[in-house]
Amino acid sequence: MDFRLSEEHRMVEKMVYDFAREQIVPIIKEHDRTHTYPHELVPQMAKLGFLGICLPCRYDGAGMDYLSLGIVSEGVEFGDSSCRETIAVHLGLHALPIFQWGTEEQKAEHLPPLARGDYLACFGLTEPNAGSDVGGLLSTARRDGSDYILNGEKMWITLADVAERFLVFAKTDPGRGARGITAFILERGWQGLTTGTIEGKMGVHASNTGWISMSDVRVPVSHRLGEEGEGFKIAMSALDNARYTVAAGANGVIKACMEASILYAKERTTFGRPIAEYQLVQQMIANMQMSLDVGQLLVWKAGWLKNLGIRNTRETSMAKWYCTDAARRSADDAVQIHGAYGYSDEYIVERHLRNTKSAVIYEGTSQIHTLVQAAYALGERVDRPMRCELPAYDPELWG
Ligand code: CAA
Repeated sequence: MDFRLSEEHRMVEKMVYDFAREQIVPIIKEHDRTHTYPHELVPQMAKLGFLGICLPCRYDGAGMDYLSLGIVSEGVEFGDSSCRETIAVHLGLHALPIFQWGTEEQKAEHLPPLARGDYLACFGLTEPNAGSDVGGLLSTARRDGSDYILNGEKMWITLADVAERFLVFAKTDPGRGARGITAFILERGWQGLTTGTIEGKMGVHASNTGWISMSDVRVPVSHRLGEEGEGFKIAMSALDNARYTVAAGANGVIKACMEASILYAKERTTFGRPIAEYQLVQQMIANMQMSLDVGQLLVWKAGWLKNLGIRNTRETSMAKWYCTDAARRSADDAVQIHGAYGYSDEYIVERHLRNTKSAVIYEGTSQIHTLVQAAYALGERVDRPMRCELPAYDPELWG
């Protein structure tokens, strides 16, 4: 067993942390303050290969492995959660499901522009009345000749108002619950498809969160992903990848909070001594270090399983649950260490505290992951092979 990152992975790590420090951190506070999406960072992330980091070169991806996706997610979220959300949704929830479930024609058509970052793409699963309960979604898709007609509303969709492509889920057979869901790739500009932005969020202000409305949207059958009724499995397997990026990103937040706290604790004096000398402050910093070490072990193990092509739903769920909860606690402690200054936007930690609350809700609440872990432990939940598995990483095929 070798816990060291390879030379290649350390190069990716350095590149992404340099990018976060030099490109994200200097501009993101203003975007957060004005609630604007940092469009200018998208071509930069695309140029560095982040938007297709684990896709093979034949699809214009960077040809790296799934562990690299975790490292990129961690480093980008060291800068800000909103930028990591772009990678989670564009690559984890849109491109990777096409890579896993698409026909050769669909992969050849859709993956290169996604990997190059020609446009952004999103994932429309959640609805106003169906979040955790995916099988309860109400959108419908009715077959009409060589097309489907889609109707329904999607809500809390990251990138909804800036994306050009939409992977949406609708029921082709409403009587069959989760087994009646089918996945479709939609394009902006199609008649009946409209989007908007949701205002008033607590955090991730620099990310776009919105709604998608479908009113008799005509979708050619060539844009159906997978077979009819496979939508639930496509959505869940997509979440196995995006939750992995969320978990990895949470480790980046812990790192950012720890770095800021150490710097502040060494400079700030009370009662004639730097606060870093007080054991109650040290305890909070030690907890952050423990969270980071445990979090990275969980994420890197999930990435290693993905590289081998071994199903990792349980391990990814565990990583998402642990890392996002730990990041929220770390951000809370970091604000505490900064005292009144931590409560203002003069320091980065208040932004991280607001952002981390979203990650314990989206992509499976902490409560859903608790139930999933209990079901595995009790033997009530067993992973079954799927028709299409995420391909194991193979340097020869990827290069
Ligand atoms: N991969 C592939 N197949 C899977 C799977 C996975 N990860 N998880 C389950 N399945 C399969 C099962 O094998 C089972 O197959 P069979 O019918 O052949 O036996 C089938 O799917 C049903 O599985 P379950 O019985 O486990 O389903 P469930 O109803 O018990 O699942 C749940 C329940 C765990 C609560 C699940 O619905 C869940 O994770 N909910 C949370 C959803 C979520 O994370 N939503 C956030 C979306 S993010 C978003 O939309 C916004 C954005 O922009 C980020």
